[in-house]
Amino acid sequence: MNQKLQFLERHSTPAKLLVEPAPDDAQLRQIFQVALHAPDHGRLNPYRFITIRGDARHALSEVFASAVKRRDPGVSEAYLKKQKDKPLRSPLIVVVVACLSDNPKVPEVEQMLSAGAAAHSILLASNAMGFGSIMLTGDNAYDRSVCEALGLAANEKIISFIYLGTEKVELPHPVKPDIDNKISNWTGK
Ligand SMILES: Cc1cc2nc3c(=O)[nH]c(=O)nc-3n(C[C@H](O)[C@H](O)[C@H](O)COP(=O)(O)O)c2cc1C
Repeated sequence: MNQKLQFLERHSTPAKLLVEPAPDDAQLRQIFQVALHAPDHGRLNPYRFITIRGDARHALSEVFASAVKRRDPGVSEAYLKKQKDKPLRSPLIVVVVACLSDNPKVPEVEQMLSAGAAAHSILLASNAMGFGSIMLTGDNAYDRSVCEALGLAANEKIISFIYLGTEKVELPHPVKPDIDNKISNWTGK
């Protein structure tokens, strides 16, 4: 199958089904090179990527726990554990960050879309290289205390946490919408 048709096989893998090996640094560089080809109005490059592996995932667990407790001081132990376990599910996490600037020609939504396209490119490239991946957000992605702990500036936002690794088992892929319901032809009349 050629590379273009391989994109039809792109699918997400639940984070808990992603195991070692994750992409190594050289493979990740290649994946990020693909992300740099995301469409980008004004050549602003409005994104950057933070990698989190190994013990650093435990530090992210603590960041998630503190954020959850700040949002809900009465949080149950069970929910807290669930949040703390999240970063430990997969061997590698890439945080895709949108770096937003005031630009008279490129509104923020376009910069967010560019960063989202970069995130999708990471999913496509990692699958094409034989790795599994999934992009996840949740409340922690939109929590400023999490952003600050990860070193984001005030003009930066988390687009998603992309969990990466090798698929332990391959689940059936989600059924996609009927393409005929997604296409129309505008004739101008
Ligand atoms: C910006 C964004 C954030 C997402 N966040 C979550 C999430 O927090 N939890 C979740 O279960 N799925 C989330 N998803 C959906 C999954 O990444 C995935 O696309 C979905 O499970 C469908 O699987 P597929 O990619 O194989 O079609 C998100 C998708 C996008 C685009």
